[in-house]
Amino acid sequence: MNSTEVLELVDDLIFAKTGKHLENLQKDVLKGTIEGKVYPDIAKDSGFSESHVKNVGQELWKLLSLVLGEKVKKANFRAVFEKIKRQNFSSPIISGYCHTNLTANNINIFPDRERYCSATLTRSPTSVENSQESKNEPQLDLAEAPEIFNFYDRSSELTTLENWILKDSSRLIALLGISGIGKTTLTLQLIKQIKTNFNYIIYRSLRFSPTLDVTLTKLLKNFPDQADISQNIETKIFQLLDYLNQYRCLIILDDLQMLFCSGKIAGQYQTESENYQIFFQLIAEMNHQSCLILNSREKPIEITQLETKNNSVRSLILSSLGLAAKQILQKHKLSDEETWENLIDIYQGNPRWIEFTATMIQEFFDSSVAKFLQWEKVILSESLVAELDKNFQRITQNEQTIIIQLAQENQPATLHQIDKTLELSTSDLLNSIQSLKRRLLLDIKQEDKTTYFSLNSVWKQYVMCKEEGK
Ligand SMILES: Nc1ncnc2c1ncn2[C@@H]1O[C@H](COP(=O)(O)OP(=O)(O)OP(=O)(O)O)[C@@H](O)[C@H]1O
Ligand SMILES: [Mg+2]
Repeated sequence: MNSTEVLELVDDLIFAKTGKHLENLQKDVLKGTIEGKVYPDIAKDSGFSESHVKNVGQELWKLLSLVLGEKVKKANFRAVFEKIKRQNFSSPIISGYCHTNLTANNINIFPDRERYCSATLTRSPTSVENSQESKNEPQLDLAEAPEIFNFYDRSSELTTLENWILKDSSRLIALLGISGIGKTTLTLQLIKQIKTNFNYIIYRSLRFSPTLDVTLTKLLKNFPDQADISQNIETKIFQLLDYLNQYRCLIILDDLQMLFCSGKIAGQYQTESENYQIFFQLIAEMNHQSCLILNSREKPIEITQLETKNNSVRSLILSSLGLAAKQILQKHKLSDEETWENLIDIYQGNPRWIEFTATMIQEFFDSSVAKFLQWEKVILSESLVAELDKNFQRITQNEQTIIIQLAQENQPATLHQIDKTLELSTSDLLNSIQSLKRRLLLDIKQEDKTTYFSLNSVWKQYVMCKEEGK
């Protein structure tokens, strides 16, 4: 690679990043560096002061470091570009950078990147090609992830997620479901299955409601150039977006609901977490080759809005584990297999609820599911009540009123029927129903163009016991 080729390549990279071509002095610095000259000599040749030439050089190395995702200095500039030449431009850094154009709100902010891709690299891999390119061991950051000991079924959900991520290149996915349904477990299994398609896989829990600043710093620490993590939150977001564009990354942010207010309508961010919304929006709207999965018990409001206008945003509601939950009962060595399906139905196929109940059956019912089911009422273990308590305390007063009302109904109720019994304004009623839907706490069915709402048997029993205990 001669100096003209290097200058052209650098010019293309810089143009793709900034929309500006190299200035004459920047070219002089590069040419001098390739020829092994020191700054005083380059300054003499170009007619500028030594300090000015040095400053121009340092800014250029910084910019190139950001573009290439690795530290570029005067001392290693030649080595870096020799390496790129050896790899015949197929490095994930370069190819990843090229095959997508960063856009925001449909405005291409790196407008000439395609020129660079087709002219210089003569290839522009699709995401599938690119995923094959990345087939290797990714850098894993799973320090905050719990270990999973058993995994049953969820084959259709795994296929859906895999297709969305690998085939459709979805950039933002919300995995939604009530507590204990298996969101965390499913995403960790997904990682096992598709990890070779990524350069980086990062799992973080938001259970202690970290600020966006803290989360970004933790995410950025996974990538090269940790020393260059900015102090400024906006720059941090764009640094991360740059990495998401250069590398194929799968990031999972679990327990998103912990960023939302307790006692308010579902999906409302606490004041100090509001800027996460902008971050998620940018992840959805900027063009890059990575995917962010958000696990949440409550559907974030912006996901609904983004989903309708942006097909790289998806959401998946996780429901019953179905008959695969029998394996939980098997693990607990329970008897009367013919009754297991009934038990799974009552406890909504929720693996955690079924775990709690299986432990209780072992302890108090001689491991017999039939004996347990002889009791007329749905029996809730102490652990299950504690879990439902936490959920109940998070919802608004109006939502609690609606839930208590529904627990007393023998049949699913229409909006009109709920409205007749409760003294809520129409807007309060509608907002509360919508909020309960976002929390996935209502069973909803459509019949003859009418929507009916009801509570599942576990929630019904919980609310009835609570009311009786008052
Ligand atoms: N597919 C599965 N196979 C086996 N066990 C499962 C499965 N899904 C969930 N579980 C078990 O159920 C329990 C709850 O699962 P998990 O923690 O993934 O739920 P979650 O939806 O993330 O809950 P939370 O909202 O509280 O974070 C765990 O003990 C887990 O091992
Ligand atoms: Mg979880």
